[in-house]
Amino acid sequence: MSIKTFMITAFGMLLGASCNATPKANAENNSSEPVKETLENNREGKALIVFFSHAGENYAVGNITVGNTKVVADYIKDYTGADQFEVVAEKSYDMPYSELIKVAQEEQRTGEKPAFKGSVDNLADYDIIFVGTPIWWGTFPQVMFSFFDKYDLNDKTIIPFTTHEGSGLGSVVNDLKKLYPNAKFEKALANKGTEVRSSRDRVEKWLKELGF
Ligand SMILES: Cc1cc2nc3c(=O)[nH]c(=O)nc-3n(C[C@H](O)[C@H](O)[C@H](O)COP(=O)(O)O)c2cc1C
Repeated sequence: MSIKTFMITAFGMLLGASCNATPKANAENNSSEPVKETLENNREGKALIVFFSHAGENYAVGNITVGNTKVVADYIKDYTGADQFEVVAEKSYDMPYSELIKVAQEEQRTGEKPAFKGSVDNLADYDIIFVGTPIWWGTFPQVMFSFFDKYDLNDKTIIPFTTHEGSGLGSVVNDLKKLYPNAKFEKALANKGTEVRSSRDRVEKWLKELGF
């Protein structure tokens, strides 16, 4: 489904505040310099999963207590042992889906960059950043761009993943490449939000292919 089709469908239907980055200490690094680990042919670099996910009333899945993207972020954490940082907006998106799509569209139109809670204090410890997001109007929710404004991921390996209802990866990969032209990008994964709860195997297969 294209963005246009999504928009038509969406309007046709008209229908945590936690900074949980718990980075591992770098036991081998006794100096103040971050250790750069080799990523070729193994996955020894430290990985962080940065993601946004919206629990509550959502498209096609009803009222969910755990957002679709968080389900995938948790599969990745379970499989790789990576740390997580959930991007949680200061403002509330706790509203019916029919309102949220309008709020999100307006944020995108005005270029609003909503503030988010918490921070990643030790980004230098990480070599690999999984970047996870629902597709909102073809790309990231605006609050993810607030995160990108704050953190330079140019020296990282970035592995994007999305959940969506037809747009796939949307423009997420291109947007990231524009923001971080010097980052190394690896194969991204798109999952349909309605299918994530039965997609653990699919996610693990992708991670295995990536060498985790
Ligand atoms: C505000 C809003 C905009 C959306 N825009 C799109 C879109 O452009 N394309 C699409 O395929 N899905 C779109 N969706 C559907 C979500 O991407 C999908 O339900 C996703 O799995 C939600 O993930 P989450 O539960 O982690 O927030 C949109 C959903 C919302 C709430």
